[in-house]
This record gives sequence, C-alpha cells and structure tokens, in this order.
Amino acid sequence: MERKRCEQCQRILVSIIWGLTLFSVVDGTWMYLGISAVGSSVTTQEDPDSSCTEVPGLVSPQIEVCRKNPESLLCISEGARLGITECQYQFRNERWNCTTNTNYTVFGDVLRKGTRETAFIYAILSAGVVHATTKSCSAGNLTDCSCDMSHYGEHDVEGWKWGGCSDNIQYGLWFSKTFVDAPEVMTHESGRNIRNTMNLHNNEAGRIVAERLMSLKCRCHGVSGSCAVKTCWRSLPIFRDIGDALKDKYELSVPIARRSKRRPRRKGKTKRRQPIKTDDLIYVHKSPNYCRPNEKKGILGTVGRLCNKTSLGSDSCDLLCCGRGYNTQIVTYVSRCHCKFVWCCHVQCKTCQTMIEKHTCK
Ligand SMILES: *[C@@H]1O[C@H](CO)[C@@H](O)[C@H](O)[C@H]1NC(C)=O
Ligand SMILES: *[C@@H]1O[C@H](CO)[C@@H](O)[C@H](O)[C@H]1NC(C)=O
Ligand SMILES: *[C@@H]1O[C@H](CO)[C@@H](O)[C@H](O)[C@H]1NC(C)=O
Ligand SMILES: *[C@@H]1O[C@H](CO)[C@@H](O)[C@H](O)[C@H]1NC(C)=O
Repeated sequence: MERKRCEQCQRILVSIIWGLTLFSVVDGTWMYLGISAVGSSVTTQEDPDSSCTEVPGLVSPQIEVCRKNPESLLCISEGARLGITECQYQFRNERWNCTTNTNYTVFGDVLRKGTRETAFIYAILSAGVVHATTKSCSAGNLTDCSCDMSHYGEHDVEGWKWGGCSDNIQYGLWFSKTFVDAPEVMTHESGRNIRNTMNLHNNEAGRIVAERLMSLKCRCHGVSGSCAVKTCWRSLPIFRDIGDALKDKYELSVPIARRSKRRPRRKGKTKRRQPIKTDDLIYVHKSPNYCRPNEKKGILGTVGRLCNKTSLGSDSCDLLCCGRGYNTQIVTYVSRCHCKFVWCCHVQCKTCQTMIEKHTCK
C-alpha cells in the first residue's frame, strides 16, 4: 500500500518535472511540430482526443484547438516546416544559418534571447501557419473553412468578374493568431513581460506581411483567349515571397526599450516617440556575433562553413569567417562537354575536367 502510493507520487513528480522542463523552453515549443511527425500521428490515431495531450509542449488553448479539430494539426506542422525551411534558405549565407536540433528545443537556446534572429523566427513561423492553413482551406482539406466566396459572381468596377477560389486568408490569420499566440497570451495575462510583448508583435508582423502580399490572379475566357470575359480571385503568393519580405524586415528590425509597458517603444530617448509600425520586427537583445561555437547558447560558430572569396556580402570569406581566414581546397569536377549532334541520331560528348576552388572557414 505504502509502496504503491509512493509509486504514484513518483509518477506525478516525474510528470511535474517533465512539465517544468518543457516550460523552461516554452518559447516556441509548438515549433517542434515542424521537425517531427507528431502532427500526422495525431490525425491517424483512433483517439485524437487523448493523443492531443501527448504532443509535447502544447499549452492548454492549443490542446483545445487540436481536440476540436485534429486535422488542423497538420496545418501547424506544415506551417512550422515551411517557416523553418524558409528561415534556413534566407539565412544560408549568414553566420547564424538557422540551425535546428532534432529535439523539441528546435532552435536550441537561440530563442532564449530576444534578438533579431528570434524576431525573424517568430514572424516566419507565424506566417507559415497562415500560409499552410489558408492553402489547406482552398484545397478543401479542412472542415471549418473553404475558399473565400464572399464576392463570388460579383462584377468589379473594372469589368472583370470574381470567380475561381479566392484564398480565405481571414481564416488563416484567425487560426494562426489563436494557435501561435496562445503561449504568449497565457503568460501575458499572468504578468506582462517584455518577451511576450516582443513575440506577440513579431507573430502579428508575420501575419500582416503575409496578408499584404495577397494579390489578384486572373484568367481570360472567350474565343482563343480574347479576354471577352475575365475572372479573378485573390491569392496568397508562394511562401518564398513572404520569406523575402520578412528578411527585408529583419534587416531593418527595431530595437525596443526593455521597460516598454503595454506597447513596445523604441530604444533611445530621441527615437522613443517615433511610432513602431505593426509590420516592423522588434527585438530586445543585441545579437551575439555567432562567430565562435558556444554550446550554452546553442551557437555552432562558422568553422568549416563554405565561403565565397569574390563575394562582398555576408557569405564573403572575410565576413563569414570573422577574419580568422580560410582553407582552400581544389576540387575537380568531371562533366560532359562540347557535345555534338551526330547524324542520325545521337549526341557525342567529350569529358571535361574543371577545377574549382572551395574555401572553408578556419
Ligand atoms: C537538443 O539537441 C541539442 C543538439 O543536438 C543538444 O545540445 C541539446 O542538449 C538537446 N536538448 C535537449 C533538452 O535534449
Ligand atoms: C490536402 O490534403 C492532401 C491529402 O492529405 C494532401 O496531399 C495535400 O497536400 C493537402 N493540401 C494542402 C494545400 O494542404
Ligand atoms: C549551418 O552551418 C553549420 C556549420 O556551422 C552546418 O553544419 C549546417 O549544415 C548548416 N545548416 C544549414 C541548414 O545550412
Ligand atoms: C560568389 O560571389 C560572386 C559575387 O557575388 C557570385 O557571382 C558567385 O556566383 C558566387 N559563387 C558561389 C559559388 O556562390
């Protein structure tokens, strides 16, 4: 009896400790869905109700969303995956290249600090969820939404007609806000802290940028495409366009004062009154230089990274290697070349060897 009770309390204790370790890395834990198959395993389970609680790192409003609509978890996974892949593309030439782990910390300890990089991660993943959800609505994959038919069949003043499937971005925006903002809203209510303010602002910036890039797509109908009738619909761009726009925002991100209260304010006496735009990315902490590995901070450093000797940008050997210098390796490529068409009918080629210099940071 005594022993049994003890086993039980041990189990409870273990789950509390597990809960605490999750909460200590709560910044963005749902992002874990982007690198794992948890999302799809929930929807294939017979009892999604209980499996929603087994997804690590979700806060209760997120579990609620998962319960009500298990298939939406696929959108979250897909959105996070889109965001992470795009982050790695956008930062492929930078010292910090958006490295991810395979465990639930995803970006490691990088997210602990409220840097510009953290700002970008929040914005791109929030936009990723908007994109994945909205496209899912249009594909008819979700029960709660479909194409936006609010103007369907109406004529525009310019003469064309609303037709096709307009992407239902309002649903995507709502869903991203409900799910992605939930952990911040929860801690926000129990005491405002600057990181919640920062994360919420950047989540919203990601959504605003996605919405702003909606565009009109049209198709012509009529005899041999004469365009006697034109139908148009509103469409989200490919995710790359959103990534490009957010990378530009990252370059111009705004430092905010740590003691910003309700609303974030710019750092510095003279700039304080200059308003922050809703689509600006904001940050609290200065970024480290990401040059040297620092396991504690989750930084890999740039030793061994490929650099470009002739570039003047961030991928130049000078900048990427932080002035440490680089190693040069000659790599020989063999390829088919000087190909000729021989009558009839084959192609004759020579083999060519090209030497390419490869530079890696010391
Ligand atoms: C996650 O993975 C990284 C690198 O693979 C490792 O350094 C870190 O300790 C891991 N964290 C946890 C909580 O397992
Ligand atoms: C819709 O669902 C199908 C089948 O599960 C999947 O292959 C497709 O990628 C989904 N489309 C979108 C846009 O989510
Ligand atoms: C980022 O850089 C590290 C070396 O610092 C490398 O091992 C890793 O493959 C790179 N990741 C990506 C996604 O390019
Ligand atoms: C290196 O940079 C130059 C100048 O920006 C560019 O033309 C070239 O394609 C780059 N090389 C590689 C291998 O990326």
